Amino acid sequence: MNHNTKKPDEFLNYFYRVRIKITNQPLIILINIQNVTKSFKGFKAVDDISLTIQPGEYLALLGPNGAGKTTLVEMVEGLQYPDQGNITIKGMNWHQHKAPLRKLLGISLQETKFVDKLTVRETLNLFGSFYDLPKRRSEEIMEAVNLTHKQKTFTVNLSGGQRQKLALGVAIMNTPEILLLDEPTTGLDPNARRELWDILTKLKAQYHTTLILTTHYMEEAQYLCDRIVILDQGKILADGTLEELLDTYERGEIISFTLDKELPGQILSQIPGLHHFINRNERAKGELIVEDITRALPKFLSLVEAHHLEMRRLECRKKTLDDLFVAMTGRRLDE
Ligand SMILES: Nc1ncnc2c1ncn2[C@@H]1O[C@H](COP(=O)(O)OP(=O)(O)OP(=O)(O)O)[C@@H](O)[C@H]1O
Ligand SMILES: [Mg+2]
Repeated sequence: MNHNTKKPDEFLNYFYRVRIKITNQPLIILINIQNVTKSFKGFKAVDDISLTIQPGEYLALLGPNGAGKTTLVEMVEGLQYPDQGNITIKGMNWHQHKAPLRKLLGISLQETKFVDKLTVRETLNLFGSFYDLPKRRSEEIMEAVNLTHKQKTFTVNLSGGQRQKLALGVAIMNTPEILLLDEPTTGLDPNARRELWDILTKLKAQYHTTLILTTHYMEEAQYLCDRIVILDQGKILADGTLEELLDTYERGEIISFTLDKELPGQILSQIPGLHHFINRNERAKGELIVEDITRALPKFLSLVEAHHLEMRRLECRKKTLDDLFVAMTGRRLDE
């Protein structure tokens, strides 16, 4: 067998079979994104991205505004086409297999437009009719997304959060194998966000749904997803579980403080296990990234006292994805 003459998909199938033979544990690829690039007037919104997603995986695409999240997701949804590269879903592609792919996917876009003068119930009935679902399904969905009390409300009169719940309801109506949600909780209040997270957690347990979700919220990615892909400027910066991501950058905990005066440089050299100091404001305000907070904090406090400085604010915390993002790009996720 000559590998050089194989097309990428054939090669993958070959690799597949070999892996099955060796490990007896098939590596099943549900969505295969290979070297995908998409440009707008020469600007690369998605820049040579490769990503494979397995069945049942909950994957978060996390990144700041303009990172390329929507562009990437819309290419998986068949709403945009890559300039270069390939996307296959269960081995099918959008050029040849539109109808079966539509059946597989449940989609909620970043901004959903409904027919203004249809009620919540009528909207669900309408979408249900596209999939030949009984009207009973609309009831179930209204209950699942907590909109039963709004069933007679015109969609134009829904609040932003209610509209997002309806969009999720529409996306999950036909119990899709793959759910693609573009910022489903942006603008929701904390309660509504929780409710939505609960719905998605239940879907995973009940139907083994696969999810790709875009978000700016690291808590959302952390809470909901098995795997987090951080995107910035059209490229993948990091890909893994939360623990893996936090471990790829130096481990550590954070002491965040504000003092009344500048922190003398010699203090820093005496703090045990100090990885680095992030200076926020003339050294009166900053963050110490330390190996072990229980060793570093008492020493830091005694040094502050010995130098007659006054502590105005002190906060200790574990590192988060936001810290990782800052370390990689120099910017915060929400900047
Ligand atoms: N149709 C388009 N024409 C021109 N530029 C576009 C188009 N769609 C996207 N872009 C550009 O591509 C980049 C990525 O946009 P995209 O919408 O994918 O980002 P995003 O990560 O979803 O951002 P956000 O978090 O704000 O939704 C942006 O710089 C955007 O201006
Ligand atoms: Mg977007």
